[in-house]
Amino acid sequence: MNYQTLLTNLENGILTVTINRPNALNALNYQVFSDLETVFTAYAPSIDNLVGVVLTGAGEKSFVAGADIKEFTALDAKGAEQLSLRGQRIFDTIENFNRPVIAAINGFALGGGCELAMSCHLRIAGEKARFGQPEVNLGLTPGYAGTQRLVRYIGKAKATELLLTADMINADEALRLGLVNYVVPFGNEVAKAIELLTKIGTKAPLAVSKVLHCVNAYYTSEDGQAVEARAFGECAETEDFVEGVAAFIEKRKANFKGK
Ligand code: CAA
Repeated sequence: MNYQTLLTNLENGILTVTINRPNALNALNYQVFSDLETVFTAYAPSIDNLVGVVLTGAGEKSFVAGADIKEFTALDAKGAEQLSLRGQRIFDTIENFNRPVIAAINGFALGGGCELAMSCHLRIAGEKARFGQPEVNLGLTPGYAGTQRLVRYIGKAKATELLLTADMINADEALRLGLVNYVVPFGNEVAKAIELLTKIGTKAPLAVSKVLHCVNAYYTSEDGQAVEARAFGECAETEDFVEGVAAFIEKRKANFKGK
């Protein structure tokens, strides 16, 4: 598929999506959001046997350095609120995607970039990654749910500090705080994400999708335990459940079909 601001590569059921505006440190302009929305609502769902998606940034410096500040010059209150709601909607689409999405963070993940990484299910940071919510430097609050997801990941005290000071943290600190899953040498971020997705790709696909839904239900108004019980029941009716149990008893590797 061709996009104005993204590069895509599909290999072994893993879709790698690279935000490709290195001269602007991959800042999220209107078109990047449109392209991301198309990927997650049209292209990726159409891929047979999709294992998962890796999201990364082009170049050596940046994952995404935030919303495109150059598009902010003519914003009024209504326009800014609409921009925020659109970004939130598209990031929610990523968080609610039914295959795992892993952010491979090769450099700056600031403002909207940190918010994008947080909307992914897992995060791999390269040693050069830097995280922060610097919106108060611009006279703004975060707009793409940064105030909500950062609190979820690292707790209210530290999240409030980072949101108020606009301080950047490095990859090791992000790992210590629970913001990322792994820190890897620079340049190995995508490979580590692919390694994880390859492992997840050996598991029962429907169960994987349902786990994502159940985990997300912790943060919605749904009754998470009821969602889990329903998912458990639905899994029990799948061919993969029969296969998984049979494979265990017969001491062999399961051959899951996603049915
Ligand atoms: N929007 C638009 N352009 C950006 C950008 C952004 N968020 N971040 C960097 N760029 C552009 C710069 O303008 C520069 O372009 P030119 O060469 O045309 O001048 C190019 O990318 C390279 O950037 P720098 O020269 O600034 O690179 P640096 O290494 O000196 O600094 C940086 C790197 C610390 C990340 C710095 O670029 C920076 O502070 N960027 C802005 C970070 C930021 O404030 N992000 C939050 C945006 S607001 C937001 O995201 C709101 C929201 O939640 C909805």
